[in-house]
Amino acid sequence: MGPQELLALDRAHVWHPYGPMPGAEDPLLVSSASGVRLRLADGTELIDGMSSWWAAIHGYRHPELDAAVRDQLGRMSHVMFGGLTHEPAVWLASRLVEITPEPLHHVFLSDSGSVSVEVAVKMCLQYWRSTGRPEKRRMLTWRGGYHGDTFHPMSVCDPQGGMHSLWRGLLPEQVFAAEPPAGFDADVDHDYVRHLADLIEQHAHELAAVIVEPVVQGAGGMRFHSPRYLHVLRELTAAHDVLLVFDEIATGFGRSGALFAADHAGISPDVMCLGKALTGGYLSMAATLCTSGVAEGISQGEVPVLAHGPTFMGNPLAAAAANASLDLLLRGDWAGEVRRIEAGLRAGLAPAADLPGVADVRVLGAIGVVQLDHAVDMLAASKAAVAHGVWVRPFRDLIYVMPPYVTSDADLARIGAAVVAAAEVG
Ligand SMILES: Cc1ncc(COP(=O)(O)O)c(C=O)c1O
Repeated sequence: MGPQELLALDRAHVWHPYGPMPGAEDPLLVSSASGVRLRLADGTELIDGMSSWWAAIHGYRHPELDAAVRDQLGRMSHVMFGGLTHEPAVWLASRLVEITPEPLHHVFLSDSGSVSVEVAVKMCLQYWRSTGRPEKRRMLTWRGGYHGDTFHPMSVCDPQGGMHSLWRGLLPEQVFAAEPPAGFDADVDHDYVRHLADLIEQHAHELAAVIVEPVVQGAGGMRFHSPRYLHVLRELTAAHDVLLVFDEIATGFGRSGALFAADHAGISPDVMCLGKALTGGYLSMAATLCTSGVAEGISQGEVPVLAHGPTFMGNPLAAAAANASLDLLLRGDWAGEVRRIEAGLRAGLAPAADLPGVADVRVLGAIGVVQLDHAVDMLAASKAAVAHGVWVRPFRDLIYVMPPYVTSDADLARIGAAVVAAAEVG
């Protein structure tokens, strides 16, 4: 089938993320990808500044990841996880326990980030039901967050960005604190700490958990905050009998400069969600980890099991990709690579700060953000980046990149130039 025919069928039949039906814009048709480059049907090659939304940290068609998936394909691509188990999933779960903060000891594997957040919320609600406090059923979060598109995750997304007004009456009503003060290195704002303390104390009787994205708020606004607020949340939740959930679906596996964003603060939540880069971006898989305290609480309930069990739970192909991705990451100097990318992005994006219409330029780890003082003209900005040979996907007032860790310095410079060009016209 030719490209024009494919695009016509795409427009007529295929939903794209946050897209209308029929489609309003023609997506770019990708025929293959390798290293950090996407190859389009017309032969154009674009450097991927997005890592396919935080996921492809090792780039595309990595020989080790390809071999791991191929090898697993030769054994079995999938078997149900109820009553059966297998080496790729067991090995993966035990390694996740090893590398995540102590004492997260138990792992629930699921198929996507949103589902892993659903599972995290279910763990927390079921924990309190099972331990005789069913009234603890609300979640608290800070504004500016994003946790996925299914209903419980949506209920803890930023109320405006998450379009809560569209879902009034349907979404569980959660408790919202103000956005955390901006700046990874900023001093702690004591008024904000008091605000968190008041809110948690006031609602403790009905709160199952506090859920946040630690250090980096991603799709809710690409904002960075001080790890000190994670300490504050840990202390307040422990003091008030409230569980703490970290959604590390975007930040996990080195992206923010620490293996997990929680490591910036040296603390552990009670429940943690992982996804995206878990499989190196090869296949869809996510994980929800919890402490033995949470697991034991659930086990003492009237229904002593965690009431969840997706068909593709623990998928062997995805687990094999995840194990190979972890091998690559932990064997190599991921921290050095992320620092190198951080330096490259700082240098490359700096000229954007002088452009009219640019409100802020910020970089943390392998994440670079140019924030405009107006809504970005997405089409014009993407076109400008493509003209520089780079794929970006701006949203709202943000042009942002999180390149694969294997991006060379020369390609990083091209990404920087492309983002600056996008900011000029966006
Ligand atoms: C922090 C965070 N949580 C949850 C999700 C949802 O993950 P998924 O798109 O795999 O459902 C995302 C996706 O962008 C995310 O960034």
